[in-house]
Amino acid sequence: MKVISTVVELQQQIKKAQLSPVGYVATMGALHAGHLSLVTSAVKQCPLVVISIFVNPTQFNDKNDLKNYPRTLDDDLKLLVEVLRESDIVFAPDEKEMYPEEDKREFHFGNLENVMEAPLRPGHFNGVAQIVSKFFEIINPDFAFFGQKDFQQVAVVKELVRQTGSKIKIVANPIIREKDGLAMSSRNRLLDPKIRKQAPIIFKTISSASSMISEHDIPEIKSFVQNSINSIDGFNVEYFEIVDDTELFPVQTRDAIKKGKRYFGCIAVHAGKIRLIDNIEIGLV
Ligand code: PAF
Repeated sequence: MKVISTVVELQQQIKKAQLSPVGYVATMGALHAGHLSLVTSAVKQCPLVVISIFVNPTQFNDKNDLKNYPRTLDDDLKLLVEVLRESDIVFAPDEKEMYPEEDKREFHFGNLENVMEAPLRPGHFNGVAQIVSKFFEIINPDFAFFGQKDFQQVAVVKELVRQTGSKIKIVANPIIREKDGLAMSSRNRLLDPKIRKQAPIIFKTISSASSMISEHDIPEIKSFVQNSINSIDGFNVEYFEIVDDTELFPVQTRDAIKKGKRYFGCIAVHAGKIRLIDNIEIGLV
């Protein structure tokens, strides 16, 4: 694999490779098996894969979170060399390369910017859209692979592609979990050991919630999720919503569920000092 840090060289290498389709995986590093599954899918489907590693400052609304975000480039490269081919490219630019000047662009995503993560992390999805649109423009991939764990991010990126009329196909890969069920995340390594041990409660609870839909209405399911998780020391549910998978409208009662649509239970939990998210398709357990 080639490791590149400038846009000019990246574009030269992509052009020189003359391989298509081109697959792209966007990451902020601190890679784990979830990222590697995206890279492996991309490698299977595309003779040229570009993976970016860039901790994007514009998507952090909390300066401390940005400061503490794990940066592990050497370890990341060791993992990538195992799954990438010689022609594949790791693009690891610095901040000046991606933001030679302040990015003042504002994106609008309708309901996607009113629900779940959006009001709690003001500016987050605008920052994601800024950086993803830059990468899309620079790399111009045929396929871009994202993890379904970031459910709302996938919806935002799909909407970004729709709004810009881009031909890039967004592939959403299933959540990869630790053996005990915890959704893989770069933030898991920041969990206090005691909290980490209890963290599988999140997946266990939303799995139960998923199968409750046949016999219980949504307010009951929501209370069950809140109570089960909040009863564990150090855990606090920020939200649990059941939403459709395109516009992410929260449904408040079972009657509002429309046939033919897919619904997901999405959760954010404060686990000690770390905020974790997860989701599960409702009714499919
Ligand atoms: O999911 C992430 O790691 C980031 O939001 C992304 C898509 C790499 C943009 O910085």
